[in-house]
Amino acid sequence: MEFKLLPGGSIVGEARVAGDKSISHRSIMFASIAEGTTHIKGFLEGEDALATVAAFRAMGVRIDGPQDGEVVVHGVGLNGLKTPEAPLDMGNSGTSMRLISGIVAGAGLEATLTGDVSLCKRPMGRVINPLTEMGARIDSEEQGRPPLRIHAGYPLNGIDYELPMASAQVKSCVLLAGLWAQGRTSTKEPAPTRDHTERMLKGFGYPIVHQGDRASLEGGHVLRACDIEIPADISSAAFFMVAASIAPGSDLTLSHVGINPTRVGVINILRLMGADIELLNEREIGGEPVADIRVRYAELQGIEIPEEQVPLAIDEFPVLFIAAACAKGRTVLRGAEELRVKESDRIASMAEGLATLGIHAEVLEDGIIIDGGSMGSGTINTYHDHRIAMSFAIAALRAEGEIRVLECDPVATSFPNFDAIARGLGLQITTLDGEE
Ligand code: S3P
Repeated sequence: MEFKLLPGGSIVGEARVAGDKSISHRSIMFASIAEGTTHIKGFLEGEDALATVAAFRAMGVRIDGPQDGEVVVHGVGLNGLKTPEAPLDMGNSGTSMRLISGIVAGAGLEATLTGDVSLCKRPMGRVINPLTEMGARIDSEEQGRPPLRIHAGYPLNGIDYELPMASAQVKSCVLLAGLWAQGRTSTKEPAPTRDHTERMLKGFGYPIVHQGDRASLEGGHVLRACDIEIPADISSAAFFMVAASIAPGSDLTLSHVGINPTRVGVINILRLMGADIELLNEREIGGEPVADIRVRYAELQGIEIPEEQVPLAIDEFPVLFIAAACAKGRTVLRGAEELRVKESDRIASMAEGLATLGIHAEVLEDGIIIDGGSMGSGTINTYHDHRIAMSFAIAALRAEGEIRVLECDPVATSFPNFDAIARGLGLQITTLDGEE
């Protein structure tokens, strides 16, 4: 599937974007290993979260739905998961592979974890190392690439793990494995990363101490089923926050968006660039802060992005680069080498697309320098990365000619109705069969 975009337009109206991907994954995982029945609302029916659902079904968990964002999970408890009969296919989803590795190793199951071509190129040494330190035995392809073969019969011991990189997936993998480990498991992170795992464990009544850069728990307690309402994903909302900021005449309200402090880098960075963003009706739902976000057009300025904001906006950089391309002056990003190991090398794929549209971007080892300017027209490669596809769709609002975005199928991994919502708000987007 491809996107074809006509240039110009403004973003006006109200929308509720898809459910939070990180929270959707965790809701299925924790509900599956809890005692009792968990009811979930607002679940993201995207391919990534559905890969997690399929994995737990394959491990013997009864899961009803999703239907209209509702899922019912009949938890089997920490000791109720079954050995899957076939390899667990995580599709494109790094979160599924890294977190489920911790669960499979912890629960002592024999399983192979695999995924699509893009996932099979991503580094898994970052979870193999701490799990091996805990006592697990895991085989992989060269340089820790998937498929991962996790072996049964290796009980885990708790460790005190200092993360070598800011990664919520690695932190969560270790803490999840720790649920089954003997003794105490602790993590220490180099910078704050999303804390949905810590919050949700508390929501399921599991004792966890989470203070500053450390989280720790003891194995062997019980998770108790609960009801979960999942907010809209700020990472999906980000596309339209940038869209409304760059398109003259825009006035947009995004409802029920998760504004967990570990996820709001995109708001902080856009505000530093001069964006007009208001948070309305701030409230807390199921342990997660939520707000309606109003964004109006504003002229943006290039900035040096503060490095402490990087982990707080890690998934939003592709679209923030579009904001930078529309801003006056220069934007500099450093300390963001993690962008190179996402669904694509996001520094390289964005730099290529920006150059196609006539924007000057200098690639750095750990970031990028972007000079704001005017965007022309062109055909964009996405390298099968959902966020690259959606970012260049948004760019059309300020382009001078038509933009064609190739290979847009992966958008369905995180934001299945992106094009419908975009069209409803004023983007001139059509989808084309990839063969055309
Ligand atoms: C996620 C953590 C981040 C993020 C990903 C989701 C999570 O990955 O990029 O989209 O749900 O824990 P890293 O842990 O690799 O930074």
